[in-house]
Amino acid sequence: MTNTSTGLLGSRTRKDFPILDQKINGHPLIYLDNAATSQKPRTVVEAIKSYYEHDNANVHRGIHELSNRATLAYESARERTARFVNARSAREIVFTRGTTESINLVASCLAESILKPGDKVLITEMEHHSNMVPWQLIAQRTGAELLYLPVEDREGNLALDRLDGMLTSDVKIFSCVHISNSLGTVNPVKDLCAKARSVGAISIIDGAQSVGHQPVDVQDIDCDFLAFSGHKICGPTGIGALYAKGDLLDELPPYHGGGEMIAEVDFSGSVYKDPPHKFEAGTVNMAGAVGLAAAMDYVDSIGREVIWEHDAKLADYFYREISRFPGTLLFGPKEKRAGLVSFFMEGIHSHDIVTLADQKGVALRGGHHCTQPLMKKLGVSGTARASFYFYNHVDEIDRCLEILERIQKRFGDHG
Ligand code: ALA
Repeated sequence: MTNTSTGLLGSRTRKDFPILDQKINGHPLIYLDNAATSQKPRTVVEAIKSYYEHDNANVHRGIHELSNRATLAYESARERTARFVNARSAREIVFTRGTTESINLVASCLAESILKPGDKVLITEMEHHSNMVPWQLIAQRTGAELLYLPVEDREGNLALDRLDGMLTSDVKIFSCVHISNSLGTVNPVKDLCAKARSVGAISIIDGAQSVGHQPVDVQDIDCDFLAFSGHKICGPTGIGALYAKGDLLDELPPYHGGGEMIAEVDFSGSVYKDPPHKFEAGTVNMAGAVGLAAAMDYVDSIGREVIWEHDAKLADYFYREISRFPGTLLFGPKEKRAGLVSFFMEGIHSHDIVTLADQKGVALRGGHHCTQPLMKKLGVSGTARASFYFYNHVDEIDRCLEILERIQKRFGDHG
């Protein structure tokens, strides 16, 4: 592969990420575990530091200067988050700890308000545990039935021809991942949400792997809810968001009870604040929100179309090259994949691949990637995964491939 656009973006942005400039086990770090978490640019670290050094106080409570500043910073971050996904209003954004909490929030609140025994919830076989276990819990709690739209094969396509048969009027909730973290499949979420709407089902999209890698427009997708995390888009850990369309939040009961989500409390009961505050009990993650807004500014200064193209090129190149390795199974679509590649080398456990690659400075992920049922269905206990972001350079991919080739030789038969 020529060292052109993919190399340029990687070279240009690397200097913003101090963590990337280090050696691991005596070798330059090559960080290819971006689907697990992204690294943080200096601007994000500085924004959090500045918040703590100058503006920290509790939000919405105080009447003093610092509290006003903290409240302004926090609510500005909400506005920024709304713009990031093209929500109509900041009122549609609830800050959470991340994708997992966003999905748990919506599952729990919807269960209470709409699900009854016999209703159905439809998800897919490629969901991350965070979009599967909450629905299993809700099914147990409500007597609703949980259905799984199948994944067809190793190429990781959903069995869309089965959708119409499964998406009946009994289905009250449809929840689906936008980009699979273990396959790199990009699901046609706009069409899927339209189908869900046509039977009156609420649609929820897990955007954990998409929002930082491509433009995501909730009005265009026309989903009811979208969940995502800050730490996968260059932001800090412990902050994420739930987008909820229009006045949907008005109809939901609160998730957690406590301070800050109430308008008035009496011994006999409480009156809640309006959304989104009704869903943010207790002291919120002010510094996290500030860091998240800085991350969104940073990512958008590069441009998510540019990031998408860059990541996809690296993934296509990696996929093409590793497909020439003997005894190596590849997972996920051959084309139109997101910026990650999962693979399985016969006779080598994915943890061994990751451990040996780490000895040469390369960070990969191995295992079931929090998609155990999917791995079982595909007949493997786990895969090794390389996942890319805009600061990766094509030279790093070449080095990773060279190391993987050596690992395979070391393990025997395929050398
Ligand atoms: N969901 C994250 C991953 O895929 C943790 O690695």
